[in-house]
Amino acid sequence: MRLLVTGGAGYVGGHTVRALLDAGHDVTVYDNLVYGHRETVPCELEVGELADRRKLDALFARARDASRPYDAVLHFAAYAYVGESVAEPSKYWRNNVAAGLELLDAMRAHGVDRLVFSSTCAVYGPPTRLPIDENERKAPESPYGESKLTFEQVLHSYATAYGLRSVSLRYFNAAGARPDGSLGEDHDPETHLIPLVLRAAAGRSPGVKVFGTDYPTPDGTCVRDYVHVDDLASAHLLALGAMETPSACLTYNVGTGRGYSVREIIEACRTVTGREIAVVEGPRRPGDPPELYADNRHIREALGWTPHYTDAEAIVRTAWAWHARQSIH
Ligand SMILES: NC(=O)c1ccc[n+]([C@@H]2O[C@H](COP(=O)([O-])OP(=O)(O)OC[C@H]3O[C@@H](n4cnc5c(N)ncnc54)[C@H](O)[C@@H]3O)[C@@H](O)[C@H]2O)c1
Repeated sequence: MRLLVTGGAGYVGGHTVRALLDAGHDVTVYDNLVYGHRETVPCELEVGELADRRKLDALFARARDASRPYDAVLHFAAYAYVGESVAEPSKYWRNNVAAGLELLDAMRAHGVDRLVFSSTCAVYGPPTRLPIDENERKAPESPYGESKLTFEQVLHSYATAYGLRSVSLRYFNAAGARPDGSLGEDHDPETHLIPLVLRAAAGRSPGVKVFGTDYPTPDGTCVRDYVHVDDLASAHLLALGAMETPSACLTYNVGTGRGYSVREIIEACRTVTGREIAVVEGPRRPGDPPELYADNRHIREALGWTPHYTDAEAIVRTAWAWHARQSIH
């Protein structure tokens, strides 16, 4: 297929681009490089802003005129800092919803009718039961989660009115890296647990903060579902093949179904790296539910997705392969 990947210079998009190329697809990345890394893009890169409708129109028109129109779009581009979204909601509504509409309307104008959308488990908010299935109540606790839920709703109305086909993938906590260490999680600022712990292990930060040790969980720290970024990539490949039905508008959780606590992740990092990691225990952060992990039955049954990585140490080992390289270079 000929594919346009927005946000393909970022973490999850970048790993998915490699999986798409490995599967023989023809890929163009569209990214404004606000958070993305130009040097990690292994295919055609169009530097552009999602809200730039003229640029998007020109891109779709150029592909059509060259008799190589895009078959589908994978839409990763968004802002994804929960705390920032509370402080600066305008940024999140503009980028994650309004700019996304420009993309959808450019697709409509050029007859491109398939989209895979990066959604998130943040659409649920605090769960009423575990594991979390797709029918769980939607009560997002941040403008980030609200913006992603709103975009899912936009996709529903575009399916009904315009026949746009889509698959929304609600990722749990993306983690890990290419096992050969060639590509990894490189956010700035970084807010995710595994890279923060590994930076401490590599001596690039003094230690790691644990937010809350009095949660009603076995060891008192928060439990999350860490899904390997290459398993997320394989979910995207499967999603591309799941849009044969006209106006299909599908939504799936993408998580392993198993939760690991913050302490368990830190322990896995100590084991994998063989290094001391200093830990500072602090109070809870507002809005952090004690436990989140996915019911992944639907994506397993409907798309045949199976996570390759279900063990925290195996995930951390891939992330460490990348971090260790950063310390050398
Ligand atoms: N990383 C996670 O754990 C996680 C979990 C759930 C959902 N998601 C979603 O997955 C997607 C990718 O996440 P990530 O961790 O790879 O983030 P990332 O920041 O590494 O990648 C996002 C990319 O989009 C680009 N971008 C942002 N706004 C843009 C715009 N207006 N125009 C063009 N490019 C733009 C950035 O430059 C960046 O390269 C996001 O939509 C995020 O909300 C991520």
